[in-house]
Amino acid sequence: MTSSAASSSADTSNQSKNASPLHASSLQNDPRISEAKRLIAEAVQEHAASLDNVAAANPELSESYQAITQDYIRARGGPPLWPYFASGLGNGPYVELADGSVKLDFIGGIGVHGCGHSHPAMVEASIDAAIEDTVMQGNLQQNVPSVQMLSRLLALASESGAPLEHGLLSTSGAMANENALKLAFHHAQPANRIIAFDNAFAGRSIALAALTDRPSYRDGIPLAIQVDYLPFLDPHNPERSTRWAVNELKQLLARYPKKHAAFWAEPIAGEGGYYPGSHDFFAALCGPLREAGIPIIFDEIQSFSRTSRPFAFQHYGLDSFADIVTVGKITQVCATLYRKEFHPTSPILSQTFTGSTSAIRTGLATLDLLEANGCFGAEGTNVARHQYFAGQLEKLAAKHAGLIRGPWGEGMMIGFTPGDGSLDQAKMLMGILYDLGLLGFLCGASPVRVRFLPPPVITSTAHIDAAVDLLDQGLAQLKAKLG
Ligand SMILES: Cc1ncc(COP(=O)(O)O)c(C=O)c1O
Repeated sequence: MTSSAASSSADTSNQSKNASPLHASSLQNDPRISEAKRLIAEAVQEHAASLDNVAAANPELSESYQAITQDYIRARGGPPLWPYFASGLGNGPYVELADGSVKLDFIGGIGVHGCGHSHPAMVEASIDAAIEDTVMQGNLQQNVPSVQMLSRLLALASESGAPLEHGLLSTSGAMANENALKLAFHHAQPANRIIAFDNAFAGRSIALAALTDRPSYRDGIPLAIQVDYLPFLDPHNPERSTRWAVNELKQLLARYPKKHAAFWAEPIAGEGGYYPGSHDFFAALCGPLREAGIPIIFDEIQSFSRTSRPFAFQHYGLDSFADIVTVGKITQVCATLYRKEFHPTSPILSQTFTGSTSAIRTGLATLDLLEANGCFGAEGTNVARHQYFAGQLEKLAAKHAGLIRGPWGEGMMIGFTPGDGSLDQAKMLMGILYDLGLLGFLCGASPVRVRFLPPPVITSTAHIDAAVDLLDQGLAQLKAKLG
């Protein structure tokens, strides 16, 4: 460093030192950090700029990609769900893979990339995190953004009246749900049963494997909790299916009095097949649950941020029923939010890690952008984009008769039933789409659907048009394959 450069950097660092009583704030506000951020943002944008369309793999990278795939297979003991190994760079909904291909990512790691790929605000938040001293925050090491994140989620969750006053962060949706169940069992002891819906998916811990309605996901695993299942809302027969579910619930309550610690529900069935809920359906169930004193848990790990409101329970006007709510995925760091009656009286909740500093900071930035970019509201982009996408899918259904039915879902959770609804045909179409450059994933069991979780913050109608165009080509290929 030249002497003049050295003295000028000393000047700027002295100036910034004087600006705040905290050394950490003066570091964050140091002009050198701002300049470094500016340069990084410029470089990321420049290198990502051409990733604005799907592209085929680069043959020169084929060998190295195969080596990555083989390393994965060796390490994991089997092939990946799909051959996705990303390079670490993207642009909006487009992501570059390590084989040089570019995909239109409408699944985002199952709902995680709310702002798409390499968004400048995510890069900036990650730099802010990198200059914090703590990689992972936890019960004994909370930095300030951790408190901000929890307060922010509680404020959003209670903004239309849900009395959710406390919470804690965690590193996965499964852990957030485990903590929710612990709070419910602790509160309702000695109750030992949970009520859930057919086709529920709650995560991969031992207790959640019992709750999740997929026997193969708990093969060989002892049943940790007792679960009773109710049928979900059938959109083709809303009144009859609601009556049926309420009758089943009443029978359960009579069969096991005081034995249920909670009713656990995804307001929109996610892994179960993108079945939307409704106010009337949930209100009809929540009435008898309230009378029986059974707490209501809404799992918003997939649905948060995708409807007209931050939480789908708000979208359906169910605020007064929300006793415990879990959130994750798009928020990067996960959380369990609860009414104060559920605050545990014994030390049942604690974690060395509650979230990484970059997850917390990027999560906060995502919450800012969801609001700033007008995702919410009856006329917000989540609702508008859903209507647009649904309309385009209906046109495709008319063009490719018998090959696509739906659409299903709500807001920025959208899916359709391909072909005959079998796993084979859904997988076949998913593979065709993957090769064409469109990333969507399966959900549901009978029928199996293809779903999309487009990034709410940045998805435009042009991106949806690009997806629909690829889907159009994919359906033509499916038709040719099926003969
Ligand atoms: C509704 C729901 N709950 C819980 C989970 C589990 O979250 P995680 O995979 O972060 O543990 C998921 C994940 O897909 C989910 O969709």
